[in-house]
Amino acid sequence: MQPPPASLPLLSATYLSHLLFFLSILWFFLLYLIQWRQTRNKHLPPGSMGWPYIGETLMLYSQNPDSFFSKRQKRYGDIFKTHILGCPCVMISSPEAAKAVLVSRAHLFKPTYPPSKEKLIGPEALFFQQGDYHSRLKKLVQDSFLPSALRGYVSEIEQIVLKLLPAWENETINTLQEMKKFAFDVAILSAFGAGWGVETERIKRLYHRLEKGYNSMPLNLPGTPFNKSMKARKLLNETLRRVIEKRRERKKQDGGLLGVLLGSKDHKLNHLTDSQVSDNIIGVIFAAHDTTASALTWILKYLHDNEELLEAVTKEQEGIRRGIIEENREMTWADTRSMLLTSRVIQETLRRASILSFTFREAVEDVEFGGYIIPKGWKVLPLFRSIHHCEDFFPDPEKFDPSRFEVPPRPNTYMPFGNGVHSCPGNELAKLEILVLLHHLTTTYRWKVVGEDDGIKYGPFPVPKGGLPVRVIPRNN
Ligand code: HEM
Repeated sequence: MQPPPASLPLLSATYLSHLLFFLSILWFFLLYLIQWRQTRNKHLPPGSMGWPYIGETLMLYSQNPDSFFSKRQKRYGDIFKTHILGCPCVMISSPEAAKAVLVSRAHLFKPTYPPSKEKLIGPEALFFQQGDYHSRLKKLVQDSFLPSALRGYVSEIEQIVLKLLPAWENETINTLQEMKKFAFDVAILSAFGAGWGVETERIKRLYHRLEKGYNSMPLNLPGTPFNKSMKARKLLNETLRRVIEKRRERKKQDGGLLGVLLGSKDHKLNHLTDSQVSDNIIGVIFAAHDTTASALTWILKYLHDNEELLEAVTKEQEGIRRGIIEENREMTWADTRSMLLTSRVIQETLRRASILSFTFREAVEDVEFGGYIIPKGWKVLPLFRSIHHCEDFFPDPEKFDPSRFEVPPRPNTYMPFGNGVHSCPGNELAKLEILVLLHHLTTTYRWKVVGEDDGIKYGPFPVPKGGLPVRVIPRNN
């Protein structure tokens, strides 16, 4: 038999690659045509949609997002359109427009997350809900983070701090990683309540496996990071069900968010199912720890770079320490309320670093907005960071200056915890844990940044590149 000519496979490979190229051009063209037909008679906001499908994604991810937003804001104004991550978007950077999307016309803009995130956290978690079910669930979650509930956590949080800090002494630590450990332990405490140690080590281990998938490709094939995370999510569910069952059997709900969810007396919510409960426990752990850890990392950086401010904060904390020692007692909620300068440092950090630079909503119908139409299905992004860095509201915005919070900011110009129905229920807990940690850190230690100041990494929260390695030394050495 004659062997086939050697050039044939070569020819068919060339032919195939040409065909693929042609089909992709056709595909992009069709997408462009569909997009154009859907919006041709609508008065859309100004802006560029970039390339078909790819849009301006590469531009956003290849540069500092601040300059991406500010260039467009200068060119097109406070409402402009763009196209990122396969979605047409409208970005808004005026306080009034952000308030309309998040508060006054919130029913027209639903929260939206990538489906993979929903699968990993659990579809029944608070973030993904809207309407009556959302407000009832939100009320429960808020109840468990009210100051009256948090008072009881002060000494528990203090114990976590006092266990963590000595391990840093005379060591070089990665600030972000250490702060994640701390915020994670506090999140677990707030989710399950004090003294509920059963299964928490297993829950921690499984959660760490789960979180590896948050920023991975959503490819659920054996061996992929996403697949491993989905497996961890399944095991986490089984573990949480055992914990829920035990608590239900005891007929005593105990503390934490879990206690509040299991003890719900809201007749419309009925008894929450196990999956409603576990999705919300995982949701809160997810929401609580990377955000707070980023904020703490930035605070250490700003205090390190502003020596005088660090000394002033230390003086405030030493005054409180003296009171605690004189009265021979533990730290209380009232102590944390008297940390006025330290609280302004937190406020200014949340403005300057803007931990959540923006959030996503989706128009549920064609919405007339500021003289334009936002078509149904388009994403809408209120740009918190741009508002926080606008010099009309915060003069000399790049300067770290806690004194600007001696007077309250103008309404709707300061939204580190969001605004409206989906605003953060954990803001008081976040501030509390930061205050307790800063109390002990500033009165006992000093820290020195190791290596070069490398700038910012956005992944997805802005953090100092490299996680801010610092050397921690006892203060009076
Ligand atoms: C410095 C730390 C934190 C920051 C900067 C922060 C920021 C935010 C922001 C901006 C939102 C609104 C998102 C949106 O509108 O789409 C939000 C929502 C949320 N946060 Fe936080 N957060 C922090 C800490 C916490 C903590 C400690 C908890 C829990 C104990 C928590 C639980 C939640 C939950 C459950 C939601 C969803 C609320 C809803 O959809 O109704 N957060 N957070």
